[in-house]
Amino acid sequence: MWSALLRTTVLSGALVPVAYTQISPPDFPPLPVPITSGYTQTDLDQLWQSVEQSGIPVVKANITRVLEPLANFSVGPEPPRFRPAYLQANTSSLKLPKGFLYGVSTSATQVEGVVKEGGRGPSSWDWVCHNVPSTCSGQTPDVVVNEYYLYKQDIQRVKAMGVNTFSFSFAWSRILPFGGKGSPVSEEGLQFYDNFVDELLKNGIEPVATLFHWDTPINLMSQGGFLNRSIVEDFNNYASIVFQRYGNKVKTWITFNEPLAYCAVYSTFPFDPSQKGGASAALTPFICAPNLIEAHATAVQTYRGLVSQGKIAKGKISIKHDGQKPLPFDPDSESDRQVADRVADFFLGIFSQPIHVDGNYPQTIEDSFPPSVLRRFTDEEKAIIIGSADFYAIDAYSIAVAKTAPGGLEACISDMNNINWPICQDTDAVAQHTRVNGWPIGASADPLAPLFDTTQHMRGFFKWLSEKYPSPGGLYITEFGFAEPFEASLTELYQITWDERRANYLLDYLNEVLLAIHEDKIDLRGVFVWTPVDNFEWGSATRQKFGLLHVNFSAPGLDRTYKISFFQVRDFFREHFSN
Ligand SMILES: *[C@@H]1O[C@H](CO)[C@@H](O)[C@H](O)[C@H]1NC(C)=O
Ligand SMILES: *[C@@H]1O[C@H](CO)[C@@H](O)[C@H](O)[C@H]1NC(C)=O
Ligand SMILES: *[C@@H]1O[C@H](CO)[C@@H](O)[C@H](O)[C@H]1NC(C)=O
Ligand SMILES: *[C@@H]1O[C@H](CO)[C@@H](O)[C@H](O)[C@H]1NC(C)=O
Ligand SMILES: *[C@@H]1O[C@H](CO)[C@@H](O)[C@H](O)[C@H]1NC(C)=O
Repeated sequence: MWSALLRTTVLSGALVPVAYTQISPPDFPPLPVPITSGYTQTDLDQLWQSVEQSGIPVVKANITRVLEPLANFSVGPEPPRFRPAYLQANTSSLKLPKGFLYGVSTSATQVEGVVKEGGRGPSSWDWVCHNVPSTCSGQTPDVVVNEYYLYKQDIQRVKAMGVNTFSFSFAWSRILPFGGKGSPVSEEGLQFYDNFVDELLKNGIEPVATLFHWDTPINLMSQGGFLNRSIVEDFNNYASIVFQRYGNKVKTWITFNEPLAYCAVYSTFPFDPSQKGGASAALTPFICAPNLIEAHATAVQTYRGLVSQGKIAKGKISIKHDGQKPLPFDPDSESDRQVADRVADFFLGIFSQPIHVDGNYPQTIEDSFPPSVLRRFTDEEKAIIIGSADFYAIDAYSIAVAKTAPGGLEACISDMNNINWPICQDTDAVAQHTRVNGWPIGASADPLAPLFDTTQHMRGFFKWLSEKYPSPGGLYITEFGFAEPFEASLTELYQITWDERRANYLLDYLNEVLLAIHEDKIDLRGVFVWTPVDNFEWGSATRQKFGLLHVNFSAPGLDRTYKISFFQVRDFFREHFSN
């Protein structure tokens, strides 16, 4: 009965590795034995042996030193204009507010590479891609785009786009190889991020740092990961080290990336504890959620404490939400409208309401799950959870459709055995992306990405969000972007670089942002494009492309080439920045 909810959650979270759902437990080799004392090099080697136990060794990149910025740097010839000018006429006079953040976004696992060096410990993704290769399309995060050594040149490239900010994530296990409170701290890991942050600052680009973008240290995964409430203290210890090291340089912080998608993955993840006779796999997201919220709030409390003690500079901190408020399949159907609200509760409200409103889950969720399933917060816990975000941040790629489950809403809500309980949404993929008149909600992205170009619906979503979860710190779109259809199957650069569907998506989206600010008076203060260069898209690995620059993964230098979307975004900001 729980599986329906989880299937829905997995399908609706953009960028979730759908491949997880196709793996059955007997395929998994054992997780490493947890290391809780000693923490010697031999212990670390043992964790890496567990990653390599299935016979797939970790490989090294061809480039093994930091490359300096190019002396003869140029973005090359300008592409021809490809959108008629009249399409821009309506917004040409509109400016972005002063201080608007315009940037790009990445995450550690998806770009860094250099995983087994510099004292880094393995993460859940190193382990799973090596031991259950089908989970990651037969690829690994070992090298990816080798950002660890190529970051100076990539920063040079995004600087040429005119960005004033860059969002990245720290790899927990690069800093604490064993993850937990007792783990030694890797100075080499810290040094890498010092250099990275300094390079951004030197180029006039403000860093936005995320503490956790899904890469749980394997040694904590062996102890239950976010299903074990002890992780709250471990995360707080990690957060405190990072705040103290970078808190004078980084002024905008994110604790967690996309908590919904992260917790949903536990239900079908190879780390699902049901293998060991523990909790039911289907319940795991509801064990993860309160632990993650508490870890977030505790880290925020630590951050604010360090600021008020004068140990680090004053900045702001939040969490990057995921989820959405879908459109009703049939706008005239009261039931479809209610299902759309339920989807918004279960996908967005589960994290947003406790943090941004009142420490409680939405009523629909509390009505569905007793406290024995979904832990409620005590008044003391609520005191640190409520208001533990200085602004509202959301990864808002596209909008889907909510259709009432077959058999009707009331019948479904009252029947826990209904396969669609408790959201009671029709989880069929077509039902989630087409409307009552039979038309899709927008142009499809790559079939591997459950995304659509629904830019015309984003203003409505921003308005809904700023009414439902208003924040005095404003609203930030911490990720948006598009997987160009079938880009991975193209072989010629002249085909790849003309990424028109992505370019149109980005430009239309940005124009909607302008109108949201000027016509709807939304306090929207920043946008971050996912992502500067093609990267490792989790379960789809390099088969799914989001980059503004193409990366040739077969070339020894991992050559980057500009796509037209890069110029499109650059030119939009040249026109609309108000500096
Ligand atoms: C820049 O210089 C490098 C090394 O000298 C050379 O390989 C490359 O072709 C040059 N690129 C351009 C665009 O001139
Ligand atoms: C853009 O066009 C719409 C529709 O005609 C109009 O309502 C709106 O005021 C225009 N906005 C600007 C800034 O010209
Ligand atoms: C939870 O974490 C604690 C501390 O790391 C550990 O002692 C305990 O064994 C873990 N529980 C499970 C079920 O692994
Ligand atoms: C990628 O690099 C390989 C090896 O250098 C080359 O043969 C291939 O043509 C390149 N592909 C593209 C699309 O440029
Ligand atoms: C190194 O470059 C060679 C081509 O020269 C390529 O075949 C190989 O896959 C590259 N190795 C890595 C780890 O990128």
